[in-house]
Amino acid sequence: MATRSRPADPARLAPASRTAQRLPAEQLYADELAHLAVHDTLTRPPGWQLSMPAVRSFILGGSVAGQTLRRKMVCAPSLIERSLVTLASQRALLLVGEPGTAKSLLSELLAAAVCGTSTLTVQGSAATTEDHIRYGWNYALLLNQGPSVQALVPSPLLRAMQNGQIARFEEITRCPPEVQDALLSVLSERLLTVPELPAHDTVFAQPGFNLIATANTRDRGVNEMSAALKRRFAFETVLPIADHVSELALVYSEVTRLLAQGGVPVTPNEPLLEVLVTTFRDLRQGVDQEGGATDRLSSVLSTAEAVSVAHAVTLRGHYLRGDNGQPSDLVEALVGTAAKDNADDLKKLRRYIEHRAAKRTGEHWVAFHAARHALPQ
Ligand SMILES: Nc1ncnc2c1ncn2[C@@H]1O[C@H](COP(=O)(O)OP(=O)(O)OP(=O)(O)O)[C@@H](O)[C@H]1O
Ligand SMILES: [Mg+2]
Repeated sequence: MATRSRPADPARLAPASRTAQRLPAEQLYADELAHLAVHDTLTRPPGWQLSMPAVRSFILGGSVAGQTLRRKMVCAPSLIERSLVTLASQRALLLVGEPGTAKSLLSELLAAAVCGTSTLTVQGSAATTEDHIRYGWNYALLLNQGPSVQALVPSPLLRAMQNGQIARFEEITRCPPEVQDALLSVLSERLLTVPELPAHDTVFAQPGFNLIATANTRDRGVNEMSAALKRRFAFETVLPIADHVSELALVYSEVTRLLAQGGVPVTPNEPLLEVLVTTFRDLRQGVDQEGGATDRLSSVLSTAEAVSVAHAVTLRGHYLRGDNGQPSDLVEALVGTAAKDNADDLKKLRRYIEHRAAKRTGEHWVAFHAARHALPQ
């Protein structure tokens, strides 16, 4: 029987984390991290909780000392290795790529494994100010006592410097460049002075401190980075998953995990996910599986979107009919995903289903083609 969670205590901002909709990687994989820490005998960079090979195994999965670790990221091992070397150096790491290629996921996994926390995060946006990057003040205390250490509200970055941990900066290029430049002195001198405090206190970054930023190539032009700041980052491009079989396996395992996490007792419809992943790949690349040219959509058809659509289709089948999703659910879900930014995309999707899907054999492709009438006119 499903257990009902207790009502939140109004006196506490944060209810028990066991009931959280999504746990950070260090909590979700706490057992794997603890196992690796016990069996990791290799040299760790200063301030790190694990050695580089242990972090690589945590992210890419495999078998370590009798325990199978989940594969959490599909990418070239060299991307992980270069990222780890950067984090152990005096340069910060910038993960760039198309939307939905798991840049945020990789930054979360790296931070969780290297320093045990992935939540020291600044979210970049047009509204981000220097205070979000450096520090702010508790105004009640500030008015009462004047500038004091107690009245100072450290940013996640300042806390990471104090504790020798990894800070994360999501979507850094969505911030105005002059705000981004507040990072310059932190990244080069590795210190941050608080001139308002009577003693002009300076926080010196402790061993283990570094920064992982992410930037979306579609947003990048909005706010370019200064050359000075670029120089302080090593850029790593996170590419979409190259291979069909790996992408399908990832979508299947992610949906299975999301269903289990939500307590939904159903397994994903594998042939339907095959139709979904193939459609996404064909419309993303403009080339179908048989090598023929198809239309390419302007909407982003990322693996992350494929996971969301597959999850939604499975939930729809489960809660509305008691099955695990039908091709007609997929056609309807595609309308809101594939034709988001551009009405032309809807026409391209229709053409794809009418002409390409029609040529494919198999029960699910036939039903997918037959369900094209669910597309809006
Ligand atoms: N190569 C991959 N390995 C593992 N998961 C992936 C991969 N590509 C996409 N995913 C899926 O995408 C989800 C993560 O997407 P994430 O939000 O990290 O992407 P992002 O690149 O940060 O996107 P955005 O640019 O929109 O912020 C994962 O939870 C997973 O389901
Ligand atoms: Mg992201």
